[in-house]
Amino acid sequence: MAFKIGYFVGSLATASINRTLSKALIRLAPAELEFTEIGIRDLPLYSYDYDDNYPPQGRALKEAIEASDGILFVSPEYNRSIPGALKNAIDWGSRPWGTNSFARKPSGIIGASIGGIGTAVMQSSMRSVLSFLDAPQLNAPEAYITFVPEAFGDDGECKDESTAGFLRHYMEEYSGFVQRVLAVNAPGHI
Ligand code: FNR
Repeated sequence: MAFKIGYFVGSLATASINRTLSKALIRLAPAELEFTEIGIRDLPLYSYDYDDNYPPQGRALKEAIEASDGILFVSPEYNRSIPGALKNAIDWGSRPWGTNSFARKPSGIIGASIGGIGTAVMQSSMRSVLSFLDAPQLNAPEAYITFVPEAFGDDGECKDESTAGFLRHYMEEYSGFVQRVLAVNAPGHI
């Protein structure tokens, strides 16, 4: 049985190391997971002025989240927090009030930085946001990736066996978590 995973890359940069990480995660993930990126680049900046007439980009984002069995955030840490483009996308998905698309969606958070703490502070902020949005989160393993360029090809090949083993383990745990949450929330689904 296949499970649909909608993933966000929290960086808009052409050479994003988190986009590379997302490719590595997809390559190493168990076969039962199918991945679709949920784009954030074309969203206007959210305002509740849009709530009465959500633009197509906002509707498409909400539909993509709602069509997913699980959500995966692969994001950098910018200034010790969530990158603005990603936070904007989360705000779009959470509204209009009463139609929060993240509710009950099993979620995983992972990120790479060039520094030693590997996005730990961003992930802490994300956990607060996702808790408020009633999105259950994979708690363990935590995944704070200090990005070493030599360890990854641009296509996401992970050349370091220890890192590959950890990322593979993370995705196996994430898959199990998504399936456990689905078994409770949507027992007919699996
Ligand atoms: C950073 N970077 C960074 N790194 C970190 O570990 N903690 C931080 O708070 C920040 N803050 C920060 C702010 C801004 C605006 C930028 C552009 C960068 C460095 C960051 O880890 C590095 O640029 C990564 O390459 C960002 O990931 P992407 O965008 O390449 O995926």
